[in-house]
Amino acid sequence: MAFEIEYAKAPLGHKIHGLDLAHLKEDEFQQLKNIWNQYGVVVVTGQKLAAEQLLDFSRRLGALEKFIIDAYNLPSNPEIFVVSNVIENGKPIGMADAGRMWHSDMCFRPEPSFGSVLYALEVPLSDDGTPLGDTHFASTAAAFDALPADLREKISGLRAVNSFSARIAAAAERGAKDASMDPVALDHLKAQRDKAKAEVPDVDHPLVRTHPVTGRKCLYLSELITSGIVGMPPEEGQALLRQLMDHITSDPFVYRHSWSVGDVVMWDNCSSMHYAIGDYQLPKRRLMYRTTIRGTRPV
Ligand SMILES: [Fe+2]
Repeated sequence: MAFEIEYAKAPLGHKIHGLDLAHLKEDEFQQLKNIWNQYGVVVVTGQKLAAEQLLDFSRRLGALEKFIIDAYNLPSNPEIFVVSNVIENGKPIGMADAGRMWHSDMCFRPEPSFGSVLYALEVPLSDDGTPLGDTHFASTAAAFDALPADLREKISGLRAVNSFSARIAAAAERGAKDASMDPVALDHLKAQRDKAKAEVPDVDHPLVRTHPVTGRKCLYLSELITSGIVGMPPEEGQALLRQLMDHITSDPFVYRHSWSVGDVVMWDNCSSMHYAIGDYQLPKRRLMYRTTIRGTRPV
């Protein structure tokens, strides 16, 4: 099957039309994988996938790992992490506020996931039919390339601390102040915060890491999760992180994805970071399935 690439204006987020991920020939798969590695984020449009088909495709990209919070994994296929605001039988079926800040998935793990695949099953729409819940992606590779030489020099060799419990605590604090947040979802989040603190220790990673396939240098930090720089006074570390984050998330490096049902967005967690907008609430439903590809220790 021939496919077409519709290039985004940003360095990443190009759309691929004309592929069927449920029936991908080996040469098509290899081409798609190469494009993904080259750009960091690609959008494969027009898919219709059963949970098993999403898993089969994802496994071709690498070994899968389960999301850290079991309650948000699909009971029938726990390698699928459910991103959703839907509440059934008094319980959230997925994580409602996933990704509400700039981050790279699982950066709080010693071996963060290599990449993620997110499949849109239900997309909330505004009253005029415009999709809500857009996701922004930023190229940490292009952002690194554009840094002034002295700043590149300054940050090479630094390590940054990544803390999952800090992220959940911040989300719970934000949720407590947000009148629109469902109380059931908020209670759940508070319970997860306490669990995370006990079970997920902080970890440090290189602030500049090397993409395991392409060898490109990439900035590696996440908002709210990356809490400081090893060996640097807290205020100085946070100022440096803020400076880098502002640079990465500036216009030249960012693609904003407006979702359609059937989109499959694939990103790698080294050369990109992402951020989801929460501009919708029930009864507008959002339902996405994510699979996560295992990675290696950042170097
Ligand atoms: Fe994410």
